[in-house]
Amino acid sequence: MKDIRIAPSLLSADFSCLGEEIRKIELAGADMVHIDVMDGQFVPNISIGPVVIKDIRKVTKLPLDVHLMIQKPLRYVDNFIQAGSDMITMHVETISERLYKRYVSDLKLQNIKFGISLNPDTPLKKIIPFLSMVDFVLVMSVNPGFSGQKFVPQVLPKIRRLRDIFKGDIAVDGGINHNTAKSVVKAGANILAAGSYIFNSADYKEAIGRLRECSKKDV
Ligand code: DX5
Ligand code: ZN
Repeated sequence: MKDIRIAPSLLSADFSCLGEEIRKIELAGADMVHIDVMDGQFVPNISIGPVVIKDIRKVTKLPLDVHLMIQKPLRYVDNFIQAGSDMITMHVETISERLYKRYVSDLKLQNIKFGISLNPDTPLKKIIPFLSMVDFVLVMSVNPGFSGQKFVPQVLPKIRRLRDIFKGDIAVDGGINHNTAKSVVKAGANILAAGSYIFNSADYKEAIGRLRECSKKDV
């Protein structure tokens, strides 16, 4: 089984002291920083863009895992790479296989890891043509737009089917806590993006530790 990696989602962090929050999750043992980019079009919320990511880059060496929830991601993706992203996820609902292929094949050289994401209602078959091009898949386990939503259990069979056909990393995003983490890891996921579970806890290290621990146990 692959090692479990924890990706705290900054959307639940206190943005008035973002640098401090990032230092805290780094010390608490986070494996990467999950950054949610929202445009108010693809999702009904607006968050942050490359300007903020450029400053985040200055305060941490952790990989920046940038989740683009935006229409027309190719219009902006270069800006996110220049800002210091290490991992870029686009949504299958926002890009064609042809355009994705053209873009990603050029950028493999730059050491960026590319992912494709799909919403809970999007069938797995939509991402099949992308699987040979991506390093990882980000399975949404809530409808994207907000943190603190309830995990959608219907995505579990999707993760299982994906694990059967895909050797790369499988990340799951939305409603992750010590209960849902167990089931998604058992289904085959190995990266857990978690916002409110970590940032709403009193002790980030304990919360990250709990996610790692429960993922190891048999259910
Ligand atoms: C939702 C975002 C998630 C979100 C997760 O659109 O992509 O990363 O912040 O938050 P929780 O873990 O609270 O569901
Ligand atoms: Zn996300």
